[in-house]
Amino acid sequence: MEISLHSSKKHRALGYYINLIRDLITSPKNPFNKLYYADLYCGDGECIVGSTGKKYDPPIIQSLLRPAKEIGFSLSCFLNDLDTDKIARMKERTKIYKDFIEYCESKDANVCFRDILKMIPPDQFSIFFLDPTNHQDLKWSTIKAISEHTHHYHGKTRRPELIINLMTYTMLGSYRSKSFQSINESLGTTEWLEQVEKNKEKGLSAPIEQTFLTVFVNQLKSLGYSVPTPIKITNTSVDNTIYYLVWATNEQGYDIIETRLIPWINDLMQKAQKENKGELKKATARKRGDRSLTEYVSNQNN
Ligand SMILES: C[S@@+](CC[C@H](N)C(=O)[O-])C[C@H]1O[C@@H](n2cnc3c(N)ncnc32)[C@H](O)[C@@H]1O
Repeated sequence: MEISLHSSKKHRALGYYINLIRDLITSPKNPFNKLYYADLYCGDGECIVGSTGKKYDPPIIQSLLRPAKEIGFSLSCFLNDLDTDKIARMKERTKIYKDFIEYCESKDANVCFRDILKMIPPDQFSIFFLDPTNHQDLKWSTIKAISEHTHHYHGKTRRPELIINLMTYTMLGSYRSKSFQSINESLGTTEWLEQVEKNKEKGLSAPIEQTFLTVFVNQLKSLGYSVPTPIKITNTSVDNTIYYLVWATNEQGYDIIETRLIPWINDLMQKAQKENKGELKKATARKRGDRSLTEYVSNQNN
């Protein structure tokens, strides 16, 4: 499916995380015998960057299904997308990996997660990737219910790991059109509005997206999650924030993510931003029909 150039940054971040988890799961010391991975907004299994024409496989295929088949680690995937055409294409593109796919349906993510949880033993390592296009497509009640799929052991609690795309850009749109209810349903509280009002009274010009993020992180912590520093995903041409990738992890995994993953991903995001800007320039030049480097450079200077 056609994607924006900035989505390739999300995919690189996710791919990096999955590779790290794969290494942990396949290490001899690992206590888990299988990785359970649910992608509730999975798309159609193909990424085509609209502005550059570049094509690649999404992380679910590149970093999970293909390695599971090639190196043979134990994996159960749960795929879902509300769009029936996309899920049909996803089925087609992943048919050679069907042994690793336990569920592939076209339902509302806010409903089907309950069926998926029934197939995941709470004491096993599971990840839910929650990647909606719009904040309205992911309810806080869904996140809360997934977090309640717990296993208690030696005074600790294990919950499914979460990677959430917090769509602050669409939230901002709802805020501007005064559709507060959809934001309340995404964040599970009205606290964000009180915070925004307080900031205004104090004359603070804190970006509203930052308030959404802070409140969301606190909400995740109130469920019992540890939350490493979220990753900001910005647009390619202008640096405005489109969304944040937020990891909600068990306290046992927090240090690994915060120290081994987040700094690397932040570096990777900077590199990817530079590369994307370069690719965008080249694609724009190609579209304009620049035939030679001289012409390309001269157009850059005009
Ligand atoms: C941003 S795309 C995600 C793509 C994919 N995760 C990736 O990384 O390539 C969001 C997807 O969510 C689907 N979607 C929107 N609302 C949904 C809902 N309520 N439940 C499940 N899927 C939904 C859309 O059809 C779209 O394919």
